[in-house]
Amino acid sequence: MNKQSQPNIPPKVEIDKLTFTFPDQIVALKEIALSIQPNELFVLFGPSRSGKSTLLRVLNRLSDLIEGAQRNGVVRINGQDIFAPNVDVTELRRRVSMVFAIPTPLPGSIFDNLTYGLRMAGIRNAQVLEERVTRSLKQAALWNEVKDRLHTSAFALSGGQKQRLCLARSLALEPEVILLDNPTSGLDPISTATVEESLLTLKQRYTIIMVPHSVQQAARIADRAAFMLGGELIEVGSRQQMFINPTNKRTEDYVVGRFG
Ligand SMILES: Nc1ncnc2c1ncn2[C@@H]1O[C@H](COP(=O)(O)OP(=O)(O)OP(=O)(O)O)[C@@H](O)[C@H]1O
Ligand SMILES: [Mg+2]
Repeated sequence: MNKQSQPNIPPKVEIDKLTFTFPDQIVALKEIALSIQPNELFVLFGPSRSGKSTLLRVLNRLSDLIEGAQRNGVVRINGQDIFAPNVDVTELRRRVSMVFAIPTPLPGSIFDNLTYGLRMAGIRNAQVLEERVTRSLKQAALWNEVKDRLHTSAFALSGGQKQRLCLARSLALEPEVILLDNPTSGLDPISTATVEESLLTLKQRYTIIMVPHSVQQAARIADRAAFMLGGELIEVGSRQQMFINPTNKRTEDYVVGRFG
């Protein structure tokens, strides 16, 4: 059943009339309206410069860092307006956590990478730290590969392992929403499959909003998807609708590869 048709479950993320303009007057998002349900794996896809990364960055207010940009409209997470003056932005970014395309481990061991954020949050208890490390590595499907070398450098991991490490680093902070911007770019097919599999498990606990590597990847893993073009949201629907039976001609043209 289409999750959007379950009226009694309040959406995890609600976006309404969201417009975002860069200082050079480039309108990157135009009146976006979108609701994302809890435990959905929601995919934002579309050609380059369609506004996908900008939308992800607005959702945890990383976009605040761009001076002179203008934003209008509403974003609610758990019903709470994320732009309200009393919102603690650091706490918002822990709850709505971003994993970037290019994995960036911190200097230090695998264990250090996973406990850094927790220590910053004031958690010092060794047993708690170890439990969080183990659990987040298992959730990110990396535990078996690194359990015997937690205290060796994170830089020695392969690209796919670094990507899962960065995912585990977010998970250690127990977010609610995970934002993934092309998390399998640069990964080989086997690592890509491993990351995709771990996402399918993770959505049982988290809400995932992801920009995919390709239309094919979107069609493999999305519960629902939104097609973006030139900063506009063209169509939103189930995987079946978007990739087999799109209602909008532009969605169809893009999905079948008539433009890219
Ligand atoms: N920091 C910035 N300053 C000015 N304009 C920007 C900035 N970042 C993005 N833009 C512009 O905003 C628009 C949307 O870009 P965005 O990066 O969100 O697209 P995207 O869909 O993520 O593209 P890609 O698939 O290439 O990653 C583009 O026109 C882009 O040039
Ligand atoms: Mg992008």
